[in-house]
Amino acid sequence: MKKVIIANWKENKTVEEALAWLSDFRVLAGTVGDFSNVILCVSAPLLFPMREKIKGLKMNLSLGVEDISVFDEGAFTGEIGAFQIKGLAKFALLGHSERRKYFKETPETILLKMNQCTKYDLRPIICLSHPEEALQLVPDKRGTEIVVYEPPTAISSNGVFHPESLASVLTAVLKIQEKLPLGHPILYGGSINPENAADYLSRPEIGGVLVGAASLDSRSFAAISQIGNSYEVE
Ligand code: PGA
Repeated sequence: MKKVIIANWKENKTVEEALAWLSDFRVLAGTVGDFSNVILCVSAPLLFPMREKIKGLKMNLSLGVEDISVFDEGAFTGEIGAFQIKGLAKFALLGHSERRKYFKETPETILLKMNQCTKYDLRPIICLSHPEEALQLVPDKRGTEIVVYEPPTAISSNGVFHPESLASVLTAVLKIQEKLPLGHPILYGGSINPENAADYLSRPEIGGVLVGAASLDSRSFAAISQIGNSYEVE
């Protein structure tokens, strides 16, 4: 099985910048060809133009949205519903520690969003800040979620990369796997860049990576994707 490589652009990039990134990535990553395992999680306004550009460039990248509403269609000013994302993206990022910290998201909120994903056929990418959260946040027995272990302390800040040690990531991945009914691949996120990606991606126990800051640069993300394509998941 291929490693899953996810970009988390957070609140970054205009439409013009996103489209330029795609053109650059296409050239940089062109020699590898198959990027069916690469997912770009981006702000909702970027999804439609990016989807069209990806089609035009005949790339097999997938798109994910950064967040969805807990509510179905209705009078919820400012929210973006899963039903609106269906058709534009295949994935939705849920449970990221920044959503919990700045928007006070709780496990209950995350589960409501997961229900919306199920209803509208979006695949959730669930971020766990601690291995103990696995039982609570990954209740779906269909195994459609992508699970990411991302300790908040490992997330890069202002260009400084400080990943969690490989030994501690491997321990956490094992703990998470023990709690899940199905053999979910578990990804790691936090300060991944082209210099350290191989340390994590070369381990068969780690199913892939979630990349924040380094994914904003097409060259860095192409390098990480190419590293990912040279290894297989256990
Ligand atoms: P980082 O961000 O790669 O910049 O540490 C990862 C994330 O927050 O998903």
